Amino acid sequence: MEGEYIVRLDYLSEFINYLKGTGMVYVTRKSHFSASHRLFNPTFSDEKNDAIFDKCNNINGHGHNYVLEVTVKGNPNRETGYVIDLKQLRDIIESEIIDKVDHKHLNYDVPFLQGIIPTAENLAIVFWSILKNSIPTGILYSVKLFESDNNFVEYFGEPVSIPNYGNGAVLS
Ligand code: NI
Repeated sequence: MEGEYIVRLDYLSEFINYLKGTGMVYVTRKSHFSASHRLFNPTFSDEKNDAIFDKCNNINGHGHNYVLEVTVKGNPNRETGYVIDLKQLRDIIESEIIDKVDHKHLNYDVPFLQGIIPTAENLAIVFWSILKNSIPTGILYSVKLFESDNNFVEYFGEPVSIPNYGNGAVLS
């Protein structure tokens, strides 16, 4: 009986730690995909698109080898030691994101990106919105997207709205 009481206190202190945000461990899964995109705003003139997006406005697009890092935070489960089973996290990222964007043209081929200017910023925000309710244990902490070795963005889920340009963002 005494042992059981101690275990319950342990769970209580774990829960308090969770509420305070202490005792958190951050677990990250790294994934890769290759895709093409074109950056332009359909409400801009050709000259303005060229001035702002430069080579990224190439009419037929250009490609990147993206690296996606998804981080989940939480207290390790007392029985498994896992915040989240990384195999589960891998499978969710693969089925929800990678399978849908890998070897695709992001302006044309991906329904959940239709009408959105496919910058790394906007991709990270959309990926977050897809993943946030799919994480079985722990809490989604960040979505980090590398467009190249030197250029990457990181999103932590603060509220933000992305304009949708509808079919205009596909092509005139
Ligand atoms: Ni690009």
